[in-house]
Amino acid sequence: MRISVIGCGYLGAVHAACMAKLGHDVVGIDVDARKIEELAAGRAPFYEPALEELLKEVQEKGRLSFSTDLAAAEGSKLHFVCVGTPQKKGENAADLTFVDAAVKGLLPYLAPGDVVVGKSTVPVGTAGRLAELVQAQQPGAHLAWNPEFLREGHAVSDTLSPDRFVYGVSDGSEDHPAVSILDEVYSTSIASGTPRLVTDHPTAELVKTAANSFLATKISFINAMAELCEAAGADVTQLADAIGIDDRIGRKFLNAGIGFGGGCLPKDIRAFMARAGELGADQALTFLREVDAINMRRRSRVVELTRELCGGSLLGARITVLGAAFKPDSDDVRDSPALSIAAQLQLQGAVVTVTDPKALPNAARRFPELQYETDTSAAVLKADALLLLTEWQEYRDLNPYELVESVSSPRVLDGRNVLDAAKWRAAGWIYRGLGRP
Ligand code: UGA
Repeated sequence: MRISVIGCGYLGAVHAACMAKLGHDVVGIDVDARKIEELAAGRAPFYEPALEELLKEVQEKGRLSFSTDLAAAEGSKLHFVCVGTPQKKGENAADLTFVDAAVKGLLPYLAPGDVVVGKSTVPVGTAGRLAELVQAQQPGAHLAWNPEFLREGHAVSDTLSPDRFVYGVSDGSEDHPAVSILDEVYSTSIASGTPRLVTDHPTAELVKTAANSFLATKISFINAMAELCEAAGADVTQLADAIGIDDRIGRKFLNAGIGFGGGCLPKDIRAFMARAGELGADQALTFLREVDAINMRRRSRVVELTRELCGGSLLGARITVLGAAFKPDSDDVRDSPALSIAAQLQLQGAVVTVTDPKALPNAARRFPELQYETDTSAAVLKADALLLLTEWQEYRDLNPYELVESVSSPRVLDGRNVLDAAKWRAAGWIYRGLGRP
């Protein structure tokens, strides 16, 4: 099938490459000429495991091309809209400028039978509004909302083998023409039994925001338990293991630590609250304000703990922050709790060095005032305290016995509760976890 993918960021670049891998003929379109140039040369403009190999493979087969011109979408049967919906400056609501521009820009190129497929995370009601635009321009075309659930760091495998498909179509019916076209595009996964749900537009939009809100709530729940564990002298990691065995609760996303960040969870719960307010249903989501507050409190808690760890003052303390990305296997620093903590420590007088295997160029653009060091051994040299804030495998694997020789004072704050506390203590370190005695 001929497919266009509008927007080649984290979502679109991966989606375009994966659709080509599934055997479709794909054109990726983006207004950013530099990004398109990189992608066309088979280079991923951001770090995502397995993406670069895939880009090269499908381009060699001639299945994937790139353009900055929306006219390249003409002739495609499916048009995936994968542009960003960031938080509006100074407001909680989502900024729909890019989604609106993508759909409006596509209109002149739509033919009867075409399907515009929204994948971006949008406030409920957006699909209905955009479907009217599509209908007005090309009555024979359709608009469906097909939210994406991929995780950064696992984006390629999540796209090739998703755990479910949701198709939001205007009448919510299995017989809607867009349903069979989407089934055809995803035939490999559908044939292997991946569940597929057909809903109306608002339900499909809400599925995505509800899923991200639930995940954010789960993380903040366990972080609230961490606060209690700290107050009561209990261990939140054991608590999570014990409650997680109950499969109604589940152990996944119950890792207490410095909280959630990234380009999705934080802005999605805020946009959801803003939209609920517009719909007169704000009371239903007031709990998300608490979820956000618990999450933000983690960052100040780590600053306080670091101060304690350094003997009561941060002034002049040499702090090494291990990890800058918002999560491992990503170079994304959008709303990264690790970087936000590093910046706060620096503001309070500490001398902060940040290291990360992939995210340093992005981090340096975001916080140029911090000191960056690519080499872990150089970064930890003569440190007064180490803070593990993004749990890259290489930081989990650090040998506390070797490391103790490099630092000035053996103090470690494990912001993700991933280190073996007993082993670090045995090697002579003062170890602090979050929500652990
Ligand atoms: C999230 C969702 O998990 C995806 O399903 C969704 O498609 C995506 O947003 C999106 O809306 O596009 P992502 O932002 O890649 O994916 O990251 P997550 O894996 O959800 O992690 C988010 C944050 O929560 C990270 O900062 C991570 O470190 C933190 N986290 C995660 C915890 O603090 N504890 C946990 O137990 C799990």
